[in-house]
Amino acid sequence: IKRVGVLTSGGDAPGMNAAIRSVVRTSLSEKIKIFGIYDGYLGLYENRMINLDRYSVSDIINKGGTFLGSTRFPEFSKKKIRHVAINNIKCKNLDALIIIGGNGSYIGAKKITKMGIPCIGLPGTIDNDVFGTDYTIGYFTALQTIVNAIDRLRDTSSSHKRISIVEVMGRYCGDLTLFSSIAGGCEFIVLPDMHFKKENLLQSVQMGIKKGKKHAIIVITEFMCDVKKLAKYIEKHTHRETRATILGYIQRGGSPVVYDRILASKMGAYAIELLIKGYKGRCVGIRNEKIIHSDIQKSVKNIKKIFKYNLFKIIKKLY
Ligand code: F6P
Repeated sequence: IKRVGVLTSGGDAPGMNAAIRSVVRTSLSEKIKIFGIYDGYLGLYENRMINLDRYSVSDIINKGGTFLGSTRFPEFSKKKIRHVAINNIKCKNLDALIIIGGNGSYIGAKKITKMGIPCIGLPGTIDNDVFGTDYTIGYFTALQTIVNAIDRLRDTSSSHKRISIVEVMGRYCGDLTLFSSIAGGCEFIVLPDMHFKKENLLQSVQMGIKKGKKHAIIVITEFMCDVKKLAKYIEKHTHRETRATILGYIQRGGSPVVYDRILASKMGAYAIELLIKGYKGRCVGIRNEKIIHSDIQKSVKNIKKIFKYNLFKIIKKLY
């Protein structure tokens, strides 16, 4: 392995920069030339690459986003588009690629590997929905951002004795919702793993009011329902002012927390080690605090959706 390309793809996540930095510096320490590819698979297709040196990644470990840029590029599923990309990789004499992203990005990595270019995937997404790892790069930062927001909402909803509904990201994974509701002290939660019925939620909220709750915070994963409508429904039946807040892209930005920086640094270094050892089509993960690798094919087939029932039970007890 003499020349490697690195790209970030899909939704950006805090810690992606730290991962790129680790990939770059580890490569250079192994005398491998490293090229940054701009804007994910789109940049690969458009042949936008740059040779990176150790100073290209100075002062980025603490920065959110990704300095290489990222895109969603669904056209990459087309074979003829991928052929152009492969041709660009060959013209640049790249021996392998490191792909930092979520499930969609892993599908691209798997396909490129099949077309003869070894790829290693690093899990970069706030959603924590990647199979083969306990945690993804960016997850803990987003979690902290959400909990900070919930703390603020608590101040105002408690002052006004209101019910507050908070919609958080996560796509079809409830981890951000579940963990933020525990850390934020919220009793009502709606997860993709549950069969959601607004009537049941209302019933729980009403029980809380009966118990003497002055205000309440409900945390809900995106795409479960229209939270503005849900707020109106709850307000109508409880006669308590109810407000909905969609946290949105605030959750994706910001300086990565320590855990994400360390996770990204470890994973980036490990990815290069794997390439040196001749591995391809693998994805890096962390399991019980140990960095591991697994088949990327398996990862793309299984979107991680393990319902953490033990944690859910804790919430019920703290209610
Ligand atoms: O995958 C990360 C994520 O932020 C999801 O939580 C969210 O559903 C999605 O990306 C939003 O995607 P986009 O940036 O394309 O709007």
